[in-house]
Amino acid sequence: MIPARDVLRDYGNMSSATVLFVLKHILGQTPAEREERICSMAFGPASRWRRDCSPGFPRLCDAGSLMLAHPRAGGFLGERDVTAVEDMDRPDCELDRLNRSYARFPIVNAVVSGWRATYSSRIKPLLTTAVPTTVLDIGCGGGDVARNLARRAAADGYQLEITGIDPDERAFQFANSAPPVEGVSYRKALSSELVSEGRTFDVVISNHVLHHLTTPELASFLHDSEQLCRRIALHNDLKRSRMAYALFWAGSWPLGIGSYIHGDGLTSIRRSYTAAELRAATPPAWTVEPSGLWHSLLVYRPGEVRDV
Ligand SMILES: C[S@@+](CC[C@H](N)C(=O)[O-])C[C@H]1O[C@@H](n2cnc3c(N)ncnc32)[C@H](O)[C@@H]1O
Repeated sequence: MIPARDVLRDYGNMSSATVLFVLKHILGQTPAEREERICSMAFGPASRWRRDCSPGFPRLCDAGSLMLAHPRAGGFLGERDVTAVEDMDRPDCELDRLNRSYARFPIVNAVVSGWRATYSSRIKPLLTTAVPTTVLDIGCGGGDVARNLARRAAADGYQLEITGIDPDERAFQFANSAPPVEGVSYRKALSSELVSEGRTFDVVISNHVLHHLTTPELASFLHDSEQLCRRIALHNDLKRSRMAYALFWAGSWPLGIGSYIHGDGLTSIRRSYTAAELRAATPPAWTVEPSGLWHSLLVYRPGEVRDV
């Protein structure tokens, strides 16, 4: 009972996520203390666990230990962990696992990223049947966000031309080898190269890129976006929270088999901003708007005069 009581006292009732914190607490105990048998049950969104301590318990806890692996002044996930590096960003990561991760991004993006709503509320109103609207997807990875937006626009009878760019050769190769979708093209490039070429697009987007960037890189990325976009820029990224971490930890492990999705997703959440942090880290011309439960949308509208 002690671990459960301590967790509830320190963190409050976090619904089903509470059990993960209790497991972590137990991991910190000595083996002798751990000998009690435990039945833990959590009823919350998509989660119900019932577990006997032995013999499977240590394995469950090993995964659970990720939860509090980096305790910080503000408590777990109290601040961004900018030292954490995603395996996919390592030049020497396994190519097969990387490609499997790109292949599974569409599932993650469909479930959590909220582009369906963003398309309907912010992109679709800009589309016409007369001339193609141009979109730039910066850091497109495996390219599925671009392909999905193009498919949605086509289904609605609009013309959309999307260019996906990524500086990573491996991402470019994966995106470019996917079955072609009309209106979608990919290029290995940084946003700064397109700025140098004088290119502009009606809409500039990104998904899950902001948290990758250092402070100077974020400044350049947003400056480039301002130069490149004619009508709106929409940068969608994860919003750091314990609940997001716990649910992703519990729900994404099947996607992590043979891929980097599970571990890198958790690292991404640790690196990501809260809405208030993102607001503080970005110039006043940009607004931070809600994007579903798990994301923030960083929005720029050229020419818009805002009170600061
Ligand atoms: C987590 S992946 C997201 C891929 C894709 N946008 C998606 O949501 O499926 C992040 C991508 O950002 C790219 N990236 C990292 N730094 C970047 C930068 N400075 N400019 C553009 N892309 C960058 C990486 O190469 C990687 O492909």
